[in-house]
Amino acid sequence: MKGLILSGGTGSRLYPLTYTNAKQLIPVANKPILFRVIESIRDAGIEDIGIVVGNTAEQIKEAVGSGSRWGVNITYIRQEKPLGLAHAVKVAQPFIGEDRFVMFLGDNVIQGGISNLIRQFATSDWNSQIVLTKIEHPEQYGVAELGEDGRIVRLVEKPKVPPSDLALVGIYMFDRYIFEAADSIKPSWRGELEITDAIQWLVDKGYMVHPYVHEGWWIDTGAPGDMLSANDLVLEEIKYIVDGYVDRDSKVDHRVTVQRGAEIINSIVRGPAIIGENTRIINSYIGPYTSIDHDVVVENSEIEHSMVLENSVIKDLEARIQDSLIGRDVVINRSPIRPKALKLTVGDHSKIGIL
Ligand code: G1P
Repeated sequence: MKGLILSGGTGSRLYPLTYTNAKQLIPVANKPILFRVIESIRDAGIEDIGIVVGNTAEQIKEAVGSGSRWGVNITYIRQEKPLGLAHAVKVAQPFIGEDRFVMFLGDNVIQGGISNLIRQFATSDWNSQIVLTKIEHPEQYGVAELGEDGRIVRLVEKPKVPPSDLALVGIYMFDRYIFEAADSIKPSWRGELEITDAIQWLVDKGYMVHPYVHEGWWIDTGAPGDMLSANDLVLEEIKYIVDGYVDRDSKVDHRVTVQRGAEIINSIVRGPAIIGENTRIINSYIGPYTSIDHDVVVENSEIEHSMVLENSVIKDLEARIQDSLIGRDVVINRSPIRPKALKLTVGDHSKIGIL
């Protein structure tokens, strides 16, 4: 089997972070979501992985490289325009050839990996396997209606009135018939070739599409709130290792990872949390569900339930930072210069909550 990861898109709901960074490269618990996706495909025993890239192609290539780091071979496949998931499948056809494959959306995070699912599909004669999960607002996703026998009756993309609470997770398994399906459908109201419509075509033509209902958590990290939720869930599951330096005046919980070269000086870190490589936490409090990426400085400040990306500096704050997503190379500090006022240099689409 082969793997196909979709890693295009503009990430507009995550502006301003995604002006400078592909959304799939935003680190969750200090590791880009895309790397987590590559690892879960590799862990399922697949070595040939295609990544469909769009405008952020160069960034993705630079971050991922040849795949040798993971022991896999990566092929980059250019999608000139984001014309839908089924369109991405079409452009990937020369890479996939006649093989069966798993397609994974590069911004999806799922509990427990996909090894069992892949094994199940690889040894079956199904033409496709889709992953469904119960969620509260299915109208924002593809939705499946199952019959009493558990088979798929129909699939609809973002229905106003959802026929069930079973959403399509961004993980799909196909054989070569999906190419015929993708060639046969028409663009949807949003102008995209929907994978949901292509799978419906398979069902209509009598091909076997097996619905797997996933019980654990799943997050599509499209918006800032989803990023923080994914960070919460992944922080619960990582291995906790202290490789950095913790001084005698600091208190670090057992559910905390301190990566190589990091320093915790006279500070409290409550888990689950991760402190990145060469980051310095000085006279500060880091609360639960916080990821601080590499080369960050946090001094005389308090942060909880937040993500801080690389090379940022947070210094001398009176108020605690909470529920926040802070990008790369950001500086937040208290100015000693009067008048006592907020001095902001803030990018487009930033959101700042002030007491
Ligand atoms: C896409 C699919 C949708 C699926 C979702 C999962 O939606 O079209 O069926 O439920 O991914 O993340 P999109 O992200 O294009 O809105």
